[in-house]
Amino acid sequence: MPVTDTLSPPTATASVTDALHRRRSVRAFTDRPVDPAQLRDIFAAAQRAPSGGNLQPWQATVLTGAPWQAVQDAVATRIAMGREGYEPEYDIYPKGLTDPWESRRYGVGEALYASLGIPREDKPARLDQFRHNYRGFGAPVMLFLHCSRIMGPPQWSDMGMWLQSVMLLLVEHGLASCPQECWAMYGATVRRTLGLGDDQILFSGLAIGYADEGAAVNRWPVPRVELEDVIDWQGFGE
Ligand SMILES: Cc1cc2nc3c(=O)[nH]c(=O)nc-3n(C[C@H](O)[C@H](O)[C@H](O)COP(=O)(O)O)c2cc1C
Repeated sequence: MPVTDTLSPPTATASVTDALHRRRSVRAFTDRPVDPAQLRDIFAAAQRAPSGGNLQPWQATVLTGAPWQAVQDAVATRIAMGREGYEPEYDIYPKGLTDPWESRRYGVGEALYASLGIPREDKPARLDQFRHNYRGFGAPVMLFLHCSRIMGPPQWSDMGMWLQSVMLLLVEHGLASCPQECWAMYGATVRRTLGLGDDQILFSGLAIGYADEGAAVNRWPVPRVELEDVIDWQGFGE
């Protein structure tokens, strides 16, 4: 089964193919701060992302320091409420997800916990690791991606293209990231803390920083399905 490359050293990369292979979801960061001028260059380049009708529906709030800590604290209060604290923005996965997608989701989760040496039975350790999401895995910068609530599926796909553009550009600059839709579980709290109105909907977080190269959680091979499972060729070779 093809896999993404394990993490490569944070050297600048020039080719899109190289950046695609180097990018992976990084779940352990160093505390090295990120230069805001570099982020500005990245966002300026990501503005070249395409969007239907050139709507450019993506909007982002980028945090470090005290404002970032404030979001973590506000969400921690909701987490402490248990299920009562949930305020989901949208269904992260379709209800009743079936195969082949459910197996892919299950498989990547198992591989992630295996990389950390956490067995299935150790529910507290798994929960602890999951909760690490809400600290951005220690990233010094958090980006929250949101858009107007009036936007539909086509514009959400535009947000995805922007997000991938940002992630690849981060790789080019020697930085790492982890997209995090888990924040949508506490969407209203995040939006309130960011000062966003109810006319906005939160899509995802993006933890940004320098990868902890040695961390096992950043080094396991992430599987992908075979091309034949996703590409249907028609009319070629006739
Ligand atoms: C929009 C989006 C949201 C995601 N949300 C989370 C998340 O909340 N927590 C997490 O650990 N990974 C999250 N991921 C990472 C996926 O699990 C990951 O992209 C997938 O398993 C493929 O692995 P790779 O990114 O390392 O190639 C998200 C990815 C995307 C694209």
